[in-house]
Amino acid sequence: MANNSNSINMQFSKFSNHFNANSGILQLMNDLGEAVNPDVEWQMLGGGNPASIPHMEAIFREEMMHFMNEPREFESMIGNYDSPQGSHRLIDALVNLFNNMFESHVDSRENRSSLINPGNIAITNGSQASFSILFNLFAGEFPGGRKKKILLPMAPEYIGYNDVGLGEDPLFISNKPIIEHQTDDSLFYKYRVDFDSLNISDSIGAICVSRPTNPTGNVITDNELSKLSGIAQKTGIPLILDGAYGLPFPNIIFSDAKPVWNENTILCLSLSKLGLPGVRTGIVVAHEKVIEKLTGANAIYNLSPGRFGPALVTRLVENQELIPLCKKVIKLYYKEKSIHAISLIRQSMNGLPVQVHLSEGAIFLWLWFKDLPISSETLYQRLKKRGVMVISGHHFFPGLIEDWKHMHQCIRVSYAADNIQLEKGIEIIAKEVRRAYHSG
Ligand SMILES: Cc1ncc(COP(=O)(O)O)c(C=O)c1O
Repeated sequence: MANNSNSINMQFSKFSNHFNANSGILQLMNDLGEAVNPDVEWQMLGGGNPASIPHMEAIFREEMMHFMNEPREFESMIGNYDSPQGSHRLIDALVNLFNNMFESHVDSRENRSSLINPGNIAITNGSQASFSILFNLFAGEFPGGRKKKILLPMAPEYIGYNDVGLGEDPLFISNKPIIEHQTDDSLFYKYRVDFDSLNISDSIGAICVSRPTNPTGNVITDNELSKLSGIAQKTGIPLILDGAYGLPFPNIIFSDAKPVWNENTILCLSLSKLGLPGVRTGIVVAHEKVIEKLTGANAIYNLSPGRFGPALVTRLVENQELIPLCKKVIKLYYKEKSIHAISLIRQSMNGLPVQVHLSEGAIFLWLWFKDLPISSETLYQRLKKRGVMVISGHHFFPGLIEDWKHMHQCIRVSYAADNIQLEKGIEIIAKEVRRAYHSG
């Protein structure tokens, strides 16, 4: 039968509009796919793929082998659904880990051993899946017709939040940060939450912040976090803390930061940046009522979360190996990469009006080209033609209403790629930016 797609008159519901081709996250993931094409020499500084860290890869291989060698373990993993809340063995191991880790920060409870219990944890199919549910639980239309949004206290924020809303209205409202130039090194600046301009009205359903922040590498300070947590508690809304790169694992944090949790915090973690993005496993630590909703969503959308990710890390959590690995291997690996990438920028962009956000964590550098004569989107297109993938900064401002020119002067550069790609890529970016300042 002829396959003439033009002759098919397919009508989609309004729901389909949520999955349109202009979504930033779709562009990003398509770019990742394009770069897999071996015919083009790509310098892959765009996506959020974690680095290949041989030590971690060897550990996961070993875990897999252990698992394959145990009678019936493999067959049981592939042959059974988990419960909709996720692997109870992993959840129990996480309860131990978190109670040891968070205890010194919660002193209002007498019985510390019951601080977090298994009813406070759910496994999901990746933290992107966790956010899709959580944001729609706390924003959108409420009984009586009232509408609420998620407040991002500081944009830039993670591109993947952008399009998860299932209602008609935008899901986010966000605030511009304060820009703090660093006096000891003029290459650097840091964003700070502008608490004076935060407007927490009753149209806010939750506050959300990524720590470290994707795309900037900012780590909001313990003080900023405690202020946000206080505001959330006082207003009776949850604080959603995106720890995809953060604490307690994978701990890609180079500044001082404490792991925190309380019953009003919804902590979203992921196995991806440990080096396991392919297994699609997320972890949510929250009040039992939130976990009940997530468990319901798991059952309805997926029946149950996948079992592969939990199987690969459960022993590492039980044996208390995961946290030291994050500190000694993962954090150090990215810290060295970050230092290298910054030194490449200093060399190749010497004399250009470039500033870099302080590299306090995550796997990206956020470059600001002041008064760039072209938009960051045009720069992205030009770099793509030259085989360099970066992400244009304007995607990272979900919920910002005003058109701030800073949004069009920044790009996100991942330093997770191998050093050869990093060196070639940064060299090409420097040349292209120099050309833009010179001839537009
Ligand atoms: C800040 C942040 N949050 C959440 C995610 C989603 O991660 P995953 O769905 O792989 O767990 C990412 C992915 O890159 C991220 O950068």
